[in-house]
Amino acid sequence: MTTRVAVIGATGTMGRLICGLVEQADHYELVARLGSQSELSEMLGAEIAIDVTRPGVSQGVVDFACANGLRVLVGTSGWSEDRIGSLSHRLAGRDDTGVVIIPNFSIGSVLATAFATAAARFYDSIEIVEAHQAAKVDSPSGTAVRTAELIGRARAELGPVSAPHTDQRARGQQVSSVPVHSLRLAGLLARQDVFLGGPGETVTISHNTLSAQAYERGIMLALDATREARGVTVGLDQIVDLGFGTTPTPVGASVTGAGASV
Ligand SMILES: NC(=O)c1ccc[n+]([C@@H]2O[C@H](COP(=O)([O-])OP(=O)(O)OC[C@H]3O[C@@H](n4cnc5c(N)ncnc54)[C@H](OP(=O)(O)O)[C@@H]3O)[C@@H](O)[C@H]2O)c1
Repeated sequence: MTTRVAVIGATGTMGRLICGLVEQADHYELVARLGSQSELSEMLGAEIAIDVTRPGVSQGVVDFACANGLRVLVGTSGWSEDRIGSLSHRLAGRDDTGVVIIPNFSIGSVLATAFATAAARFYDSIEIVEAHQAAKVDSPSGTAVRTAELIGRARAELGPVSAPHTDQRARGQQVSSVPVHSLRLAGLLARQDVFLGGPGETVTISHNTLSAQAYERGIMLALDATREARGVTVGLDQIVDLGFGTTPTPVGASVTGAGASV
């Protein structure tokens, strides 16, 4: 049986990639492609809406889709912890809809964040440098915010990282006490480095997205998970077992992933 899918943001870079993947998949049917000139009602008739638009647009898309009983997969940036919490509250008790929010569809990026989170208890000096293409409108990136939040959570009993002179602007924006530095450069797609320092050593955890192909596997895994989604699920790590001994929260539970922010 095929599942009917509408892509909102279909004319964009991510939207075009996702439309191609959905069209190639046997068990999905692409029934609508929406752009900025479309009416949201054009998604009606689909069972799943995939939102890859803009941070200021995404919430309206999600609210409309949920109000009309569609399940939603969100790849758009800008979903803060507050916004996710409020959505989770609104969807509580609803069986007919659910939202899966994926800050980063790349398996490698999710692994790199998990590695950094695992290392965070062992080092007091931790800083993140993220670099994206010049056209990216938001900073720091959702992935950097999420990485910092998870690091903060992993260090809950140890306290904030050691980050001197953060009153100086060049020391970055602190997220969960971790300084985050954003580069916006022509020629780049996406890169993130987490630097950890301790007595006599440093560890660097790097992830480099070389092409949008890096998102393909995660997009299909997330789309499969969205078919049965209820409540709000955040992060590929909640869908895929990364082998860190934690069980992904089943899709369907009304949860947010730890320290969620997109
Ligand atoms: N989760 C991930 O792994 C991941 C990876 C990369 C990017 N992203 C995020 O995904 C989002 C899209 O990225 P992108 O590079 O594809 O951006 P993009 O190329 O600028 O595309 C944006 C899309 O949104 C559409 N849009 C804008 N306003 C709209 C509205 N009011 N209603 C409906 N559609 C509207 C645009 O339509 P028009 O062409 O008609 O203007 C276009 O199709 C961004 O937030 C980005 O940060 C996420």
